[in-house]
Amino acid sequence: MSDVPIMKLDGRTVLVTGGAGFIGSHLVDALQNCRVRILDDLSTGRTANLASACQRPDVSLIRGDIRDRECVAKALDGVDAIFHLACRGVRHSIGNPLENHEVNATGTLVLLSEARRAGVQRFLHVSSSEVYGTARQVPMDEDHPTFPETVYGASKLAGECCARAFHRTYGFPSIIVRPFNNFGPRSHHEGDSGEVIPRFVVWALNGRAPIIFGDGTQTRDFIYVEDTAFWLIRAAECDDLIGQTINLGSGEETAIGTLAEMVCQEVAKTRILPEYRPPRPGDVQRHRADVSRARKLLDFRPRFSLAAGISRVAQYFRERPESAAALLDQMQPVNWTDASPARADEASLPAPKRGALIPITIPFLGKEEEEAITAVVRTGWVSQGPRVAEFERIVADYCGVQEAWPCRVVRLPCTCRCSSSGSLPETK
Ligand SMILES: NC(=O)c1ccc[n+]([C@@H]2O[C@H](COP(=O)([O-])OP(=O)(O)OC[C@H]3O[C@@H](n4cnc5c(N)ncnc54)[C@H](O)[C@@H]3O)[C@@H](O)[C@H]2O)c1
Repeated sequence: MSDVPIMKLDGRTVLVTGGAGFIGSHLVDALQNCRVRILDDLSTGRTANLASACQRPDVSLIRGDIRDRECVAKALDGVDAIFHLACRGVRHSIGNPLENHEVNATGTLVLLSEARRAGVQRFLHVSSSEVYGTARQVPMDEDHPTFPETVYGASKLAGECCARAFHRTYGFPSIIVRPFNNFGPRSHHEGDSGEVIPRFVVWALNGRAPIIFGDGTQTRDFIYVEDTAFWLIRAAECDDLIGQTINLGSGEETAIGTLAEMVCQEVAKTRILPEYRPPRPGDVQRHRADVSRARKLLDFRPRFSLAAGISRVAQYFRERPESAAALLDQMQPVNWTDASPARADEASLPAPKRGALIPITIPFLGKEEEEAITAVVRTGWVSQGPRVAEFERIVADYCGVQEAWPCRVVRLPCTCRCSSSGSLPETK
């Protein structure tokens, strides 16, 4: 290992795409001796994740989209190395396959192409164990077949294929890393980004039963996020990894049912029986990494056990400014079907001509709208969430009219609008 040639990143300028996200922000924290530029559209990332990083004068954040060539070109000015983490997640892909592919696959291609033009010396592509799909044999080494179950897995595979192709075609110095399931502070519990460990923690903090999709026998290989950040840097520095692919995992598998018990014991100090629901679409059944290649080339050894990591996640959520109940409110029991299927994808389709059929049967209601409607019923006041306003605008554009209102019964919104403007429905 000591003989492996390396390109030290110390003192260099490094771009981290997705650096305001869960893993990206830990990576930024670990890149202590570099000038770090972050490119993030803050779609799922949070500036709060960068609270300590932003104290450093050598860290800067550019809010922008990796699909935007101009913005990427500016972000790349003077950059020596890239860690590419920006992506939309696995559950997002179930309701928004087109957008998911555009960011994860096309966005990666845009970045590669601009990085090559800018003469970047190292491109570390953060892929995912989801490219494998369910294990055909365990442990899964890097030559395990890739049959992703979801569009997320497929788009991550497309991204890594492009990174590999850039190396083979142009000699571009790309490296592909496939992390397995990450967990740790700053992991998402909310929305469609919500991951299993933080969700179990938040339920347990509220004394609630963890919800398991499927029978709980499905397994994952969990790696603590600070380990991932540390080994991503070592991987980027390793010249022998150029054009190569490596796994980063613990090498152990844990059943989701067992994980639920571990979290409940750690957080609630008692056993809470889980609630079982039908399996999530596209859920992989089994994952366990073979990390021999990382061991051989990097002397890879994870430092944190699953139990120690769970305790740190629990501590992180206990210290958050929100109450346990408020954290629970930010989660939906099912965190993929509420993603308003096809909203973003439909919006990106060419608008049909005036009078054409519009997709009015697509359920556009998200959690905010459900909550807003419930609030209206309770208070008697008229209210609506931002997604309804967005929906109204899209439908109005489709139809070429000034305004559109979503409703099951037309009379109610008409009456509201007309009375608020001082005219009766009959006169409109
Ligand atoms: N979390 C895991 O368990 C895990 C496992 C394996 C691989 N990965 C990979 O690690 C990377 C980071 O994942 P994470 O868990 O930190 O997710 P995350 O959602 O916390 O981070 C992704 C970041 O990318 C940003 N982003 C999304 N679309 C963007 C766009 N179009 N332009 C610019 N920025 C954009 C988001 O705002 C966010 O900050 C991803 O590439 C993911 O595929 C994650």
